[in-house]
Amino acid sequence: MIRIVDLRKSFNGFEVLKGVSLEIPRGKTTAIIGQSGGGKSVLLKHLVGLIRPDSGEIYVDDVEITKLRGKELDKIKRKFGMVFQGAALFDSLTVLENVTFPLMELTDMDEGEIRKQAMGLLREIGLAGMGEKYPDEISGGMKKRVGLARALIMRPEFMLFDEPTTGLDPVVENAIHQLMKECMGGMVECTDILVSHNIGEVLKISDWVAMLHEGVIIESSTPEGLVKSPNPVVQQFIYGSTEGPIQLF
Ligand SMILES: Nc1ncnc2c1ncn2[C@@H]1O[C@H](COP(=O)(O)OP(=O)(O)OP(=O)(O)O)[C@@H](O)[C@H]1O
Ligand SMILES: [Mg+2]
Repeated sequence: MIRIVDLRKSFNGFEVLKGVSLEIPRGKTTAIIGQSGGGKSVLLKHLVGLIRPDSGEIYVDDVEITKLRGKELDKIKRKFGMVFQGAALFDSLTVLENVTFPLMELTDMDEGEIRKQAMGLLREIGLAGMGEKYPDEISGGMKKRVGLARALIMRPEFMLFDEPTTGLDPVVENAIHQLMKECMGGMVECTDILVSHNIGEVLKISDWVAMLHEGVIIESSTPEGLVKSPNPVVQQFIYGSTEGPIQLF
């Protein structure tokens, strides 16, 4: 499992994470919710070593990862796949090349086999026949799906999904939920970490939900527990009310 202990991070004197502690169980889907700009993406980037904390620890199966460098860090990074909020595709590579990229770079698998797997994944997310297009020739939602396929093709133990279905139509959204679940039932024991503003999605597909608010985790429970939370911040957030303790400005 992943254990985050008292994680702190400031940017330009502004403290975004003020002591985040959270345990993320293996083989489950854990959602992280919270206000826009609250630090959810920053938290995910700590898990894959893209951002280093000012203080605090992150344990992945009892290995503390925040101080790792070089090969040691690479080894941990390979356990993670991340679907970025903005798809973060390589603009000079085609859709198919974007998806095959991690396997081509990191494994010695047969090229034909890699292409076959990539095309299979593209088909599953409704992008069959789009492989030869470049990122600027496809829609925003399509880019998001390519980013998803690129992360899924590695079948990592830990998958981080930052807003995986925002801006996608309901049919595609369901197809993506299926893919997330397939990973769970697949050959590796896959652990999903989901950041989403879509409360319906969070309640539907998560086993556990943590709410990040003002730099700390204020609630961590099952979806049922979240809905029943007596915390007015949680209640205001899940019902999207403009009245309550959450300030817009
Ligand atoms: N690399 C960075 N350098 C400076 N500030 C940053 C950096 N990354 C994030 N921030 C700041 O950290 C804060 C949290 O950003 P983050 O992207 O984590 O929010 P979020 O919760 O993911 O929001 P959203 O729901 O809108 O995606 C913001 O104020 C943002 O400007
Ligand atoms: Mg974000």
